[in-house]
Amino acid sequence: MKHFILVLGLCLSLYGQNKKDVEKLAPYYPTPEVIVEKMLQLGELKKGEKMFDLGSGDGRIVIMAAEKSGARSTGVEFDKDLWLQSSERIKRLKLDKLANIIHGDIMVQDYTEANLITVYLLPVSNDKVRPLLEKQLKKGTRIVAHDFEIAGWTPEKTQHIDDDGEGRSHTLYLYRR
Ligand SMILES: C[S@@+](CC[C@H](N)C(=O)[O-])C[C@H]1O[C@@H](n2cnc3c(N)ncnc32)[C@H](O)[C@@H]1O
Repeated sequence: MKHFILVLGLCLSLYGQNKKDVEKLAPYYPTPEVIVEKMLQLGELKKGEKMFDLGSGDGRIVIMAAEKSGARSTGVEFDKDLWLQSSERIKRLKLDKLANIIHGDIMVQDYTEANLITVYLLPVSNDKVRPLLEKQLKKGTRIVAHDFEIAGWTPEKTQHIDDDGEGRSHTLYLYRR
């Protein structure tokens, strides 16, 4: 019994440790749908291709990628409520053959299959994600970054949107590995 309690305590503390170890790379701040559409167009996402959204929030990029482009779409989101909400929406829309959300940390996923990566994180977080993408992405993978450049990479295209319909301006950067 004593051993059981000790092992349980150890498991719980390790679980807590793991959760704490996930670094918050950006707060939740959704991309307006009109801008999501432009990100996917800029990224030239095609049917059957594989895309990942790093920090997928309510899943809007993943869902639009599956719905409009017929792409195999995966989001990564560590916030449990956002993960649940987006996973349920995917099921409700019957997109679960194409789309899914991983409940986990952006920094420990496998992106080697990606044709397109979308990212809306802080500049300092782009610095952290960059080496991982450099290590994993195959040649030709496109990366679309919203509002914050990936320092050290040269964008192939930059698109500025003056007004998203709500008075906010946005800049999109397209990179190719
Ligand atoms: C600025 S929001 C972008 C949401 C979505 N990509 C969009 O454009 O609408 C950033 C998201 O990244 C998530 N996030 C931050 N750090 C993370 C991490 N280490 N692993 C997984 N998700 C993370 C946040 O919870 C948040 O939902």
